[in-house]
Amino acid sequence: MSRLRSAVQKGKRAALENTEVIKSSNKKKSKSAIKEEEPSETKPSSSYHFFHDPTEIPLFRSHLLQWYDQNKRELPWRTLAMTEPGVNIRTYGVWVSEIMLQQTQVATVIDYYNRWMKRWPTVEKLAAATLEEVNQMWAGLGYYSRGRRLHEGAQKVVLELDGQMPKTTAGLLKQLPGVGRYTAGAISSIALGQVTGAVDGNVIRVLCRVRAIGADSTSPAVTDALWKIADTLVDPERPGDFNQAMMELGARVCTPKSPLCGQCPVQTHCHAFRKVSIKQEIDSKRLLSKLVSKLNTSVPDIENCLTAGSCDLCLSEDWDPQLGVQNYPRKPVKKAPRVEQTLTCIVERQQAGEEMEYFLTQRPSKGLLAGMWELPSTLLEADTSENKYKGLICDMMQKLLEKSLDANSVQSVGEVVHIFSHIHQTYIVFSVHVSDWSEGEQEQKTCWLTKSALKEAAVSTGVKKIMKLYESSSKVDSKEKKRKPSPEKRSNKIKKPKGAVTNEGPKQLCLSKFFSTSKTKAKSQNC
Ligand code: ADE
Repeated sequence: MSRLRSAVQKGKRAALENTEVIKSSNKKKSKSAIKEEEPSETKPSSSYHFFHDPTEIPLFRSHLLQWYDQNKRELPWRTLAMTEPGVNIRTYGVWVSEIMLQQTQVATVIDYYNRWMKRWPTVEKLAAATLEEVNQMWAGLGYYSRGRRLHEGAQKVVLELDGQMPKTTAGLLKQLPGVGRYTAGAISSIALGQVTGAVDGNVIRVLCRVRAIGADSTSPAVTDALWKIADTLVDPERPGDFNQAMMELGARVCTPKSPLCGQCPVQTHCHAFRKVSIKQEIDSKRLLSKLVSKLNTSVPDIENCLTAGSCDLCLSEDWDPQLGVQNYPRKPVKKAPRVEQTLTCIVERQQAGEEMEYFLTQRPSKGLLAGMWELPSTLLEADTSENKYKGLICDMMQKLLEKSLDANSVQSVGEVVHIFSHIHQTYIVFSVHVSDWSEGEQEQKTCWLTKSALKEAAVSTGVKKIMKLYESSSKVDSKEKKRKPSPEKRSNKIKKPKGAVTNEGPKQLCLSKFFSTSKTKAKSQNC
């Protein structure tokens, strides 16, 4: 028996054992408790959008899994799910991966995942870590509340659940913070072999195309239908592989843009593909023959939803021939992100014989980037005049360092645009060198870090981008100093260094070169 099979069989046994737990604790709930928890209050939809032909389901499974077996990427959490015999470690490892993957691409997650599992290989080890260490490890991954919730969940498992990870979909959903319906389904199918669907963004796209579901994909009717389809389709022999195969298909073949229908293992099951093919055929026949009136009738009934017109899963807008299968899924128009401008100051100091250090403040323990370290910053009110910037920086530093700065010592560095999920943030960056200081009496925690300590600290990607810009601007400055330009060439205006970003649009800066790799200990006063 392969290690995969053996791990999954163990999972299945665990799942069976736990079915008993569900039954005894809540007799009314059936195996499909999730479906019952969120019943559809919408009208029944046409069977066209479901797998109404029972012979199609095993075919779909085998086409998909055959493709997955030949094309799947070797990913560390997959290896762990296949080879780790301990159910607790397997569940913990898959939980970590699923949380990391919630808003981040696979390629980015791999390295974070490996470092995380090396440092905290068990839920007990994670529970014993500090939040500061967790934030530090998470730095750069974004959506920092995810790391915080993992840590909180680990402490709960250790303190309240006797160190035992929940072993059912319902248990995962109920007990672990940050675990919703999708994540619970993914963990329980992959780590525990439970037969449950898992509908994430990739799976939404695949299923909407496969079953020509074109109504708003965030509507309750569509969400309910997608979960029903996923729970029906999932392979009872290999639920974890099936769910991961659906995700993999969405990520690599059935992509949002330029889908590779020619390589799709479930093309023959795809209503969207069939619609596009028929429409193309009709169009080409239209061109080739004079059968226009005959073919101008709509697509045959069998290819369409019989309740179209009153169906709450059908396309809510007209078919766009330019889009092809990309007519599915349809999403509501996104709200425009909030536009903000933030004044930020890089404050540096260098004590005799010491490395240069940078001043950081800690964000509040709740809200955006909670507990992370950042450069002193202040949100600008709309229409603040540029000539007030240096004064505002001096006011901010007066509060933080109890030090009156000369506005002339504050230098403009440039601008960095950073996009959060819902905020289009422009950092307007200044720098100042201070020689004597004393931290103020403010409540905010502050610290001084060397460049290398900054690399290891719990700082956001925004801070890293700003430091990168500062480094490149310092290089430009020192080159210019070396060149000693003629006075007439000098300008009072501070040039935007290479790599600086303007308000015109975001530009990803490469961070790798900024920080040295040596591990200098953080030299801090308050950290
Ligand atoms: N996205 C979410 N979960 C995933 C998984 N297990 N493998 C690949 N991509 C994923």
